[in-house]
Amino acid sequence: MIIRPRRLRKNATIRNMVAETAVNPDSLVYPMFVVEGENVKEEIPSMPNQYRFSIDEILKELESCVAVGVKSILLFGIPSYKDEMATSAYDDDGIVQRAVRSIKAKFPDLYVITDVCLCEYMSHGHCGIVKDDGDVDNDPTLELLAKTALSHAEAGADMVAPSDMMDGRVAAIRAKLDENGYQNLPIMAYSAKFASAYYGPFRDAADSAPHFGDRKSYQMDVRNGREALHEVELDLEEGADIVMVKPGLAFLDVLRETAELSNVPVAVYNVSGEYSMVKAAAQQGWINEEAIIRENLIAFKRAGADIIITYHAKEALEKGLV
Ligand code: PBG
Ligand code: ZN
Repeated sequence: MIIRPRRLRKNATIRNMVAETAVNPDSLVYPMFVVEGENVKEEIPSMPNQYRFSIDEILKELESCVAVGVKSILLFGIPSYKDEMATSAYDDDGIVQRAVRSIKAKFPDLYVITDVCLCEYMSHGHCGIVKDDGDVDNDPTLELLAKTALSHAEAGADMVAPSDMMDGRVAAIRAKLDENGYQNLPIMAYSAKFASAYYGPFRDAADSAPHFGDRKSYQMDVRNGREALHEVELDLEEGADIVMVKPGLAFLDVLRETAELSNVPVAVYNVSGEYSMVKAAAQQGWINEEAIIRENLIAFKRAGADIIITYHAKEALEKGLV
């Protein structure tokens, strides 16, 4: 007898009946960029249909996001000034702090996650304090990250997401939040964050490219899967509520292994370069964009992601791709 898997593929009804994977629309997180000024809605050249918004404009944009079912955003700030201590990152009057206050006032039910890093706020563009020899100084950086996370919490953020990859930052942020009464504010750790070329368009968008050197001393070597799991374990020990793998498509193996290892929810970040490649090919008419977006989102879910952070979130909800 011939065994025939094809019997269950004959029509859409039976295919849908036995489909193993579905993306939960509520699991999508939409990353957004907020900038100083008014009436600013500036398209990011390398990321078609993604914008830098001033606070007044992001409030308008969020109306349409909420209307199509966006439940959560991940906020990045582009500050008015940069220095060597990233002062504008933990300024109570900083761009993210003011944006969060305005957003939560107008959309109390929108779940606002803030990216906690210093690169956008440092004059040199690195994610931590840089020593005279050019090295990033891990331990003193922790205090600045903790201060930044606390200032986001005080502004009303629902969750903080440290993306710096300094050792010990989850514990440092957890301690600072707890000391100040934010025991219930979750931390989503960018745990397995690779030193990836896929962040290129983001660095244009956030103006956060390092002015010298690269991030290879703190972000992970793309060749190392086992090391990624070690980073995940450390963040779990330090009290991460959610662990993240980033980027997504080139690291689905790491995502799968993380999902198997983790006893907390797992997020994946479908990063800027992954988005830009889809958009560029679609603009050329070389791919079926909607089918590709659907397939990519399914891939993350199938590999084990509970949460998918993606620039496609709004259009995926709008067009019913999930
Ligand atoms: C900041 C940060 C980066 C991204 C998220 N947070 C850039 C980087 O580490 O260089 C990348 C996001 C993307 O490419 O979409 N540390
Ligand atoms: Zn950074």
